[in-house]
Amino acid sequence: MSALGTTAPETGSDAPTTTSPPTTADGVALWEIAAASRVLDVNSRYAYVLWCRDFAATSIVARIGERVVGFVTGYVRPERPDTLFVWQVAVHEVARGRRVAATMLDDLVARVGTPFLETTVTDDNAASLAMFAGLAERTGADMERTELFGPAELGAEHDPEFLYRIGPMQLTPTPTRG
Ligand SMILES: CC(C)(COP(=O)(O)OP(=O)(O)OC[C@H]1O[C@@H](n2cnc3c(N)ncnc32)[C@H](O)[C@@H]1OP(=O)(O)O)[C@@H](O)C(=O)NCCC(=O)NCCS
Repeated sequence: MSALGTTAPETGSDAPTTTSPPTTADGVALWEIAAASRVLDVNSRYAYVLWCRDFAATSIVARIGERVVGFVTGYVRPERPDTLFVWQVAVHEVARGRRVAATMLDDLVARVGTPFLETTVTDDNAASLAMFAGLAERTGADMERTELFGPAELGAEHDPEFLYRIGPMQLTPTPTRG
């Protein structure tokens, strides 16, 4: 059975949203949310479980009630210890538009504490661009765009991934909760 199912009564507006580092038990939910997004490159279930074990300190999950409804996977770049690289962000469609992604990013940035954040976004992903632009605005940071990976690295079928570098960030962003 899906970790989310097709209905999610726990996601009612009065259920609290909480964030925490992921545990390995959350890995399957990350995998299912990534697959359900139909936007993200979906990695193996094993990859998400392993990520939850080894990169929990630089990743985050959001729950509404008991149920995982979103995640951010990230790591601190070994060559740039001042930079958190955000690999994937996803929120299940039952919980979108409620600032779950913004809350996860704010909480993760505050917890990890690096002044810079990098991520890649394809040009057709308006929601992702708006999400990261909002983070830059809340943290008083600049956001620079350069091409990182194109057809030579990703193949002709994959849209180019543009690198967005955000920073320096104030590490106590304006809270996104109402
Ligand atoms: C992108 C995604 C994570 C946003 O999650 P969310 O919880 O609905 O986003 P939030 O409610 O926290 O909104 C955050 C910001 O993004 C903007 N936004 C969210 N969805 C949007 C959309 N469809 N179009 C335009 N802007 C959008 C919001 O207006 C908000 O902007 P603000 O901070 O300037 O006010 C979600 O749509 C998703 O999972 N998409 C599929 C996976 C994906 O594309 N991930 C990103 C690439 S890794």
